[in-house]
Amino acid sequence: KSSPYHERKSFKRARSSMDTTDESRKGILPSPSNGNMLNGTHKNPAQTRRLKKLQKSLDGYSGSNGIEDGDRRVSASPASTKHSLLQEQRSKLPIALGREALVQEFRENDVTVLLGETGSGKTTQVPQYLLESGLARNGMIAVTQPRKVAATSLAARVAAEQNVPLGSSIGYSVRFDERCSSETRIKYMTDGMIVRELMSDPLLSKYSVVIVDEAHERSLRTDLLIANLKNIFQQRNGISDVKGKGKGRADGSNPLKIIIMSATIDAEKFSQFFSGARILYVKGRQHPVKIYHSSHGQVDYVDAAMRTFFQIHTDSPAGDVLIFLPGQEDIESLEKSIQLYANQLPQDRMSVLICPMYASQASGQNSKVFNPTPFNVRKCILATNIAETSITIPGVKYVIDTGKCKEKRFLARNTGGGFDTLLTKDITQSSAIQRAGRAGREGAGHCFRLYTEESFKMMTLSAEPEIMRCSLAASLLQLKCIGQDLESLELMDQPAEESMKSSLIVLFLLGALDRSKEITDVGREMAAFPLEPVYSRAVIASKEYGCTYQVLDIVSVLSASSKLFVESSEQRDAVSEARKKFRHSSGDHITILNVIMAYRDIAKSENKNGRREWCRRHFLNERALLEATDIREQLMQTCRRLGINDQASCGDMDEPVIHSLGHGLAMNIALLQPDGSYKQSFGQSILKIHPSSTLCDKKSPVIIYDELVYTNQIYARGVSRISKSFLVNFGALRQHS
Ligand code: CDP
Ligand code: MG
Repeated sequence: KSSPYHERKSFKRARSSMDTTDESRKGILPSPSNGNMLNGTHKNPAQTRRLKKLQKSLDGYSGSNGIEDGDRRVSASPASTKHSLLQEQRSKLPIALGREALVQEFRENDVTVLLGETGSGKTTQVPQYLLESGLARNGMIAVTQPRKVAATSLAARVAAEQNVPLGSSIGYSVRFDERCSSETRIKYMTDGMIVRELMSDPLLSKYSVVIVDEAHERSLRTDLLIANLKNIFQQRNGISDVKGKGKGRADGSNPLKIIIMSATIDAEKFSQFFSGARILYVKGRQHPVKIYHSSHGQVDYVDAAMRTFFQIHTDSPAGDVLIFLPGQEDIESLEKSIQLYANQLPQDRMSVLICPMYASQASGQNSKVFNPTPFNVRKCILATNIAETSITIPGVKYVIDTGKCKEKRFLARNTGGGFDTLLTKDITQSSAIQRAGRAGREGAGHCFRLYTEESFKMMTLSAEPEIMRCSLAASLLQLKCIGQDLESLELMDQPAEESMKSSLIVLFLLGALDRSKEITDVGREMAAFPLEPVYSRAVIASKEYGCTYQVLDIVSVLSASSKLFVESSEQRDAVSEARKKFRHSSGDHITILNVIMAYRDIAKSENKNGRREWCRRHFLNERALLEATDIREQLMQTCRRLGINDQASCGDMDEPVIHSLGHGLAMNIALLQPDGSYKQSFGQSILKIHPSSTLCDKKSPVIIYDELVYTNQIYARGVSRISKSFLVNFGALRQHS
């Protein structure tokens, strides 16, 4: 490649609303609503007036009384310079000015909707304000996040600000990982975890405040939580009117406060859902951001991002670069190519420090993102949309926006059933504006969009709530456990009829619901596991086949957030050679089991470095194995609670294991066709076995698979062959129930 750089002229300057005017910098309203970009979407003048008024009232309170607590704390804790630095940062956050006013509002209103620019301090400060002002005396403060990394890294930050070890008064709880104790007062948790807690504590009585953060993302679990909170509020506060300000409670012993926090201006809908809850607005600090659009569409956004990065790196003054990419694979591939070119830069040039950031990273793995950038170094942060609003990264001056994200979508089939897919797609206008805004947190910034201005205009305004486009089986099962139903629950948006129907069919096929849609004993046991229904069903089935030990191994690996097998198209032959010894004739599931058993053997004799080297040699992702070990530990605890013998083993036999999995993957069975392709047995789709599968060029009459992936055709991944007799028996079993 001759020059990796774009001509600068290929970006044309946009007439952009991110060029924030002086007026908006004063913080009356954030740029998206002032600017012309979202003209027409910000349709509610009453809302605008209301927000302006509220803003004024908050501005009026800018006395610093509220911050003193924090300052006193500093002098009380001896010579902790890092801590006093953090306290100084805390007091300088935009939200600190409105602290007293906010606390007063929270005191007077049981339900509030809090809006504010990303980075203003909502997520880290509001829980601390509540704690420090004694507004949460009767219970814990829950702060929910749609993403695991956000929950863990925010908890770490707030623990540092409070100068306490993580897991003491400040903790977190995410699937398969928890740092909490009896001391914990503020608990950052995923929305999935709190919905799960509803099963054992339907009134969430441990919590005196529930803060629903990133509510604008409208994740499935957030929507379910909000719907439940409305019920819980009525029961705990004994009033149906959320404006009841604490008066006239039937049982005021354990009242609940609800705070909905959101980055965008879509507050009215949340407020209305809670019968006109108070809307508060925190002014942010947004500096002007210049936007450049690509003059033509980019075929390869990873390559374009790389070239744009080096264009910035060679031409522009110091300042970190944040690149938005859809997912982990693109992040890893861009990381490699940037590193390659960066190594060839002249010695006297500023060096490049690459920091990847995505949802499936282990906690703590991304800490270098938050460390100050060393002198003469440019940080290059490669992130998914996690950096859009959930996490604010300091020091960013340049944003490169590929315009892509990954979105989960449920493809319902008219035959019933269906499946979730993760598709790379164009972002929405509100995402694009959020992404650009990341460049203007600390000073004037620049945003390079790798798409044209026309494409921007073609984008949809904001994302569809997840409940409208995702598989609902797991959630429906949880709701059934607490005697609820998707149809009867008052949701902000009701999911599509066909997706509700298909989740009923899935749960029926798994034996979790009976014909009258009632939850069965099997269904209750399944719901006790923090697993996808397909895998919890396999664990339950393993009881009868006496192979729980093996099934737990496989299911733990399949539930880990990173993939076990490292794929490398360049070294395909080396990969297949290295993995040969694990390969099992029945397919990918027993192959996984072989890997785990081999790893366990190695772990007995090798130290950490030896284990790592062994994984590297076999193209295995050790992180997946370590994560699976943790997951397995948790699943064993659940087994014990349910009286399932987690040590039951079938030794070398593969059939019991495959049959157990078959009960879970009941919807994922396909039959060989005369032309060599496969056809779903509970659906109409024609599929092929993915090239990465051990069964790729075998002809097995019946297969089960973990998932389908789309490229130019439909591929089944994670495939094992299963006996025809299983299919016959399975069909008969379902007929009877
Ligand atoms: O929630 P909101 O977007 O309003 O802000 P926040 O997440 O509370 O962040 C407030 C400030 O804390 C930001 O300036 C972040 O840069 C900083 N922060 C940090 O330095 N490290 C973290 N792990 C989290 C936040
Ligand atoms: Mg936040």
